[in-house]
Amino acid sequence: MTNKYNNWRDQASVALLQRLFEERGIEGRILGMLTPREVLEGSGWLTNSKIDLWNRTVGSNGDKWFWPENDCYDAVMLRLPRSKKELEMCSHIALSSLRPGCPLWVYGSNDEGIKSSESVLSPLSKSVSTVSYGSKCRIVQAKASGKLAYKGELSDWKYLTKIRFPGFVRDWVSYPGVFAAGRVDPGTEVLIKSLPSIPENSMVLDFACGTGLVGGVVDLQVKSGCVEFLDVDLIALEAVQQNIPEARVIPSDGFSKLGDKRYDMIVSNPPYHRGKAWSEGFVKGMIAGASAHLNQNGTLIFVVQRRLQIEGLISTYFRKMKVLSDQDSYRVWSAEL
Ligand SMILES: C[S@@+](CC[C@H](N)C(=O)[O-])C[C@H]1O[C@@H](n2cnc3c(N)ncnc32)[C@H](O)[C@@H]1O
Repeated sequence: MTNKYNNWRDQASVALLQRLFEERGIEGRILGMLTPREVLEGSGWLTNSKIDLWNRTVGSNGDKWFWPENDCYDAVMLRLPRSKKELEMCSHIALSSLRPGCPLWVYGSNDEGIKSSESVLSPLSKSVSTVSYGSKCRIVQAKASGKLAYKGELSDWKYLTKIRFPGFVRDWVSYPGVFAAGRVDPGTEVLIKSLPSIPENSMVLDFACGTGLVGGVVDLQVKSGCVEFLDVDLIALEAVQQNIPEARVIPSDGFSKLGDKRYDMIVSNPPYHRGKAWSEGFVKGMIAGASAHLNQNGTLIFVVQRRLQIEGLISTYFRKMKVLSDQDSYRVWSAEL
């Protein structure tokens, strides 16, 4: 489900960054955070330098996941995250991984709000400034202080939200950058309220599970251990593990890591964006790919934006389909093999 990389923002801002590294003659250990490997490879940068890549999504750096060590990097480059809270978390992780006095360079495009990263970085460093700009992109620098206590562990960023559904009241764990952190997404709520009763012992997959809310509610109906949780975001899966300790989590980009595993039901509130861009690719890939992971008479239940024209596609892969709910801009589909 991964498209080839062609995001001009990544390419232009990495080109700016590469020039800055050359001008400053930076050597030593370098960490790239949320920096797509494909872009560094495309620019030829990775051929000549060793850069550790940290990314929260599975397989995106081609390496094993690791948590950055403290006080060991000579420079960190951080691709501007989507939310302010995630920027704050990643900046703390970056600054705690740098040797004192070494630079964190946050990079991104003007239309993503790179300029405003200065206000997030200011409380974390004495010297924050824009060190390079051009091609509608910018690099903001913050130097690591040996005196400030940075929150460099994931556990420093865990927070709880009270979740209430009939028969389901929980303090729900989330982390910055995880979908709908701190609230229940309206699409998730419509999906949960439309779920049919599910026979005990049914094997269910929460596909693109986020913190695991949909699967967590299903888990109440079927016997514990029958629901599995799949997502590409390893930090979201860490939240699932804390919310539902017995959960089996599957780090996977789409169905890629599922092998020949099959379920009685797949439930999903799928994503619609790749970076800033709206994309129906994931939803369509899910409809096309689900039948290979459903048992006979298995069902795919998912919520989408109502405006999405997908009846034709569903009928290509499924024998029966029905709308379980239409609410506001959301539609919940049930498709049976
Ligand atoms: C709209 S959110 C829904 C999360 C959760 N189901 C809920 O309703 O709260 C979509 C989820 O899809 C995940 N996702 C995005 N791309 C993915 C991919 N290629 N493979 C698996 N999961 C993906 C995101 O990490 C996010 O957690």
